[in-house]
Amino acid sequence: MDEPMKNRSYYDAMAAGYERERHHGYHVFLDESEVRCVEDLVKGANVLEVGCGSGLILSRLASMAGRVVGADISGEMLALASARVPSVVQADATHLPFRDESFDVAVSFKVLAHIREIREAVGEIARVVKPGGYVALEFYNRHSLRTAIKRIKSPSAVAGDVDDTDVYTRYDGLAEMIDYLPPVLKHVRTHGIRIAVPAAFFMKVPLVGRALAARERFLSRTPMRRFGGFLVVIARKN
Ligand SMILES: C[S@@+](CC[C@H](N)C(=O)[O-])C[C@H]1O[C@@H](n2cnc3c(N)ncnc32)[C@H](O)[C@@H]1O
Repeated sequence: MDEPMKNRSYYDAMAAGYERERHHGYHVFLDESEVRCVEDLVKGANVLEVGCGSGLILSRLASMAGRVVGADISGEMLALASARVPSVVQADATHLPFRDESFDVAVSFKVLAHIREIREAVGEIARVVKPGGYVALEFYNRHSLRTAIKRIKSPSAVAGDVDDTDVYTRYDGLAEMIDYLPPVLKHVRTHGIRIAVPAAFFMKVPLVGRALAARERFLSRTPMRRFGGFLVVIARKN
């Protein structure tokens, strides 16, 4: 099976349980942090989310944007997303079924980390954005506490006998992320997410979770943001 098809069956298997943990604690913190990175860009805009999954972030974006479209490789994930947003399309990030310059903004959260052909995916995302528009690309940061913990931790179960080692996952440094941008994209800023949260379960503990979220918001405005477990690279198209 080629890589995109492996991703498709991995996420098809995961879809039924994908939202089990998504409506509280760590995952709400993550969704809110990701949306905060792009809210100034998406207001009133025509927005594409590449790898929209079950549409949780896309539906948040829909409340701010002029129009949203979601693309994802997994039919099972899209079945969930279509209950939230009307416009979803099954597609591989490296071959997007949209004309050049179709969107004002394209975003992608927790998806590029699962794509080996990273330059093709970033190039495709750039292609479908209009000149003067923006892309927001989230990567997993090799230089972070989250990555260090992942290296020593045992695999997390996903569904049945599938665990998180069954999907290709890449970890990049910030300089590499910026290097993946084609010449038509100019890097404008980077956001760090999960800079100081050592493990997801801390966010379930009410007082600790609130304190960590406040600490994160503070650190995200300092140079420490480059150590976020997730880095969101914002670039403008010439
Ligand atoms: C961790 S989920 C994130 C979903 C959503 N962005 C969110 O934050 O809730 C990753 C998503 O990327 C999709 N995906 C993985 N590889 C893909 C590819 N090559 N092209 C398009 N989507 C892909 C998966 O099907 C899955 O829905």
